[in-house]
Amino acid sequence: MFYYACTDSTNVRAKCAAAEGVASGSLFVAEEQTAGRGRSGRTWESPGGCNLYFSLLLRPQIAPGQAPMLTLVMALAVAQGIQKTVVAETLGIKWPNDIVADGRKICGILTEMGLGSAPGTAEYVVIGVGINVSRQEFSSELADKATTLEEAFGQVADREKLLKNIMECFDEVYESFLQCGNLAPLRERYEGLLVNRGREVCVLDPAGQWQGIAAGIDEQGRLVVELPDGGVTAVYAGEVSVRGIYGYV
Ligand code: BTN
Repeated sequence: MFYYACTDSTNVRAKCAAAEGVASGSLFVAEEQTAGRGRSGRTWESPGGCNLYFSLLLRPQIAPGQAPMLTLVMALAVAQGIQKTVVAETLGIKWPNDIVADGRKICGILTEMGLGSAPGTAEYVVIGVGINVSRQEFSSELADKATTLEEAFGQVADREKLLKNIMECFDEVYESFLQCGNLAPLRERYEGLLVNRGREVCVLDPAGQWQGIAAGIDEQGRLVVELPDGGVTAVYAGEVSVRGIYGYV
């Protein structure tokens, strides 16, 4: 494990290490990040002393198109790891990979990939996880969208224990994923935690927004959405994002 009291971003550290040949399975953990990276080019607020920030470097034998599924694999592991650590009955996953409680985000996951020199191969995948454990204050931009494990469940999780539990869960779900190369063996468990399931969602498609009822995921990790005309379609996380019709979830 590579531990940093303070670093720019554990994803950046993991990617640099990947380029230097560091082994698959290496974990990069920081107490504080000065340039935490979020999805869609956003920053991830990363104060010290209260949260968990880590990145896992993997070198799976998969095609680049399979890598986004690893984000859902990690989301499942994080949700299960949290449930092993604290009593968290209302914890859920907002598709594809936000961990939420009470309609607010507790954890975000950012997966980044390095392509191999041979066509159609991934050289490495870095999965970065940020969990709000017991942070007291959020910026005004996040105040009504984010929460912490402490605020949602009234318990301050031991961060070392939490990380250990998440990684144990990850080992198990990752093994299942690798055996199949898709999410088929994990789908039921993932859907059991999916807060969007059975709810009306607004799909933010660059070609135009539309609404439907989220039915679950398919084995590729796409969200299956039932349309008002009775049709069914599946959307990729890389192409669209999803909101509840009245708010974030
Ligand atoms: C999101 O926007 O939801 C994804 C946030 C991912 C944040 C984590 S914190 C650890 C790792 N290092 C980073 O710079 N980002 C990820």
